[in-house]
Amino acid sequence: MSAFIYSLVLLSLSLCILISPSISDDHFDQVFSDYSPSMAPMLSRSFPPSKFLYVNLGDHDDYSAEYDSYYRVVGIHSSRYQLCFYKFPENPVYTLGIASDFPSKWVWAANTNDPVSNGAAIYLGEDGNLVLVDVDDRVVWQTNTANKGVVGLKMLEDGNMVLYDANDKFIWQSFDYPSDTLLPGQSLKAGLTTKLVSRASNTSHFEGNYTLEMSPKNVSLYYKSPNSPIPLPYYRIDQSFASTPSKEFRYDVLVKDFDNPITSHTIQYTTTDSISSSNQELVKTSYDSRSSFLRLDYDGRLRVHTSPTPENGDWSEEFTLFKGEPLSRNQLGATECQMPEKCGNFGICYKGECVACPSPRGLMRWSDDCVPPTVGGYSGDDTDAK
Ligand SMILES: *[C@@H]1O[C@H](CO)[C@@H](O)[C@H](O)[C@H]1NC(C)=O
Ligand SMILES: *[C@@H]1O[C@H](CO)[C@@H](O)[C@H](O)[C@H]1NC(C)=O
Ligand SMILES: *[C@@H]1O[C@H](CO)[C@@H](O)[C@H](O)[C@H]1NC(C)=O
Repeated sequence: MSAFIYSLVLLSLSLCILISPSISDDHFDQVFSDYSPSMAPMLSRSFPPSKFLYVNLGDHDDYSAEYDSYYRVVGIHSSRYQLCFYKFPENPVYTLGIASDFPSKWVWAANTNDPVSNGAAIYLGEDGNLVLVDVDDRVVWQTNTANKGVVGLKMLEDGNMVLYDANDKFIWQSFDYPSDTLLPGQSLKAGLTTKLVSRASNTSHFEGNYTLEMSPKNVSLYYKSPNSPIPLPYYRIDQSFASTPSKEFRYDVLVKDFDNPITSHTIQYTTTDSISSSNQELVKTSYDSRSSFLRLDYDGRLRVHTSPTPENGDWSEEFTLFKGEPLSRNQLGATECQMPEKCGNFGICYKGECVACPSPRGLMRWSDDCVPPTVGGYSGDDTDAK
């Protein structure tokens, strides 16, 4: 009897509405009544033999998580990180993601752009493949690790979820597939995932239009504008002028002096020759903020979110690119005005404020719908700028 049957039995019992289960080794049927319409596809369901199985059903956790989301705990966790299915209010679909600890923040996602329903399932097949299927059994996401010697799945203390073999070698790790976040020690790596993609909004399961990309020669922020066929760079992050290819872009935290802690948050950009690599300190916090992360937020701003340990205080934003803070000493700080489309497509930004629209008669007071100046006429707001 494999563990998946055991899980389903527990699930059935917890629903307390089981009428007549019939269990056999190679096939498993469940019969429910009067539960909810979303249960209908669960009436007859079978899963491949699995080392681990979780079906996305049942009560949500009592607490809400980041973005007012609700979640179900899958049961793969370390002391500060856990794998969950989460949803937004009034939206019935779920992302399978990793939450950083209380109050939970979402730091990794499996199925960005392809949310699943109630009754979706995550299982680690006997073959070692970790698979997310929707309620209709469509495979939504998988690790492609079948027959590679995987013996188990675990969450490490640093938030890295790993599939490991009999020698405890990692066959797959979530750290190689960042979504919008880098946890301490996590990096973009040439040949693996080379970009972070922002979330479309604080209530969206989908990707947005901002990216942080490690390209062959630099690390830059890009914005995919509806008005432009190609993503436009809006900020260059690395401080190197490398002539050799990019290798890695890494976020790290270092806690100095455990009695009187100071945490240093850095980004490191490494190239194949190492000589043209750069290392920049983003911020220092005067507390132990080891469980922090660097994220390209849905508004296109790069932030360090920090959480004090061990007292478990609230999260705070200790660094925000575009608030005028320089990334390194020999550099001017980026400002709000450098955000793409901060003042619409054509507005003029000064000291963080949208101040004017161009027009053939000169600068006009800024409005949301600044348009480019036209020749031989004018368009836009006709209020004179002061
Ligand atoms: C989402 O962001 C908007 C502003 O963009 C804010 O007003 C709202 O409170 C946020 N909601 C949540 C759940 O974070
Ligand atoms: C970064 O490098 C890529 C080529 O690797 C180049 O196309 C791009 O323009 C560069 N971006 C910036 C902001 O320098
Ligand atoms: C991203 O751009 C597309 C068009 O290029 C647009 O339809 C979409 O609304 C944008 N998404 C966000 C979150 O701004």
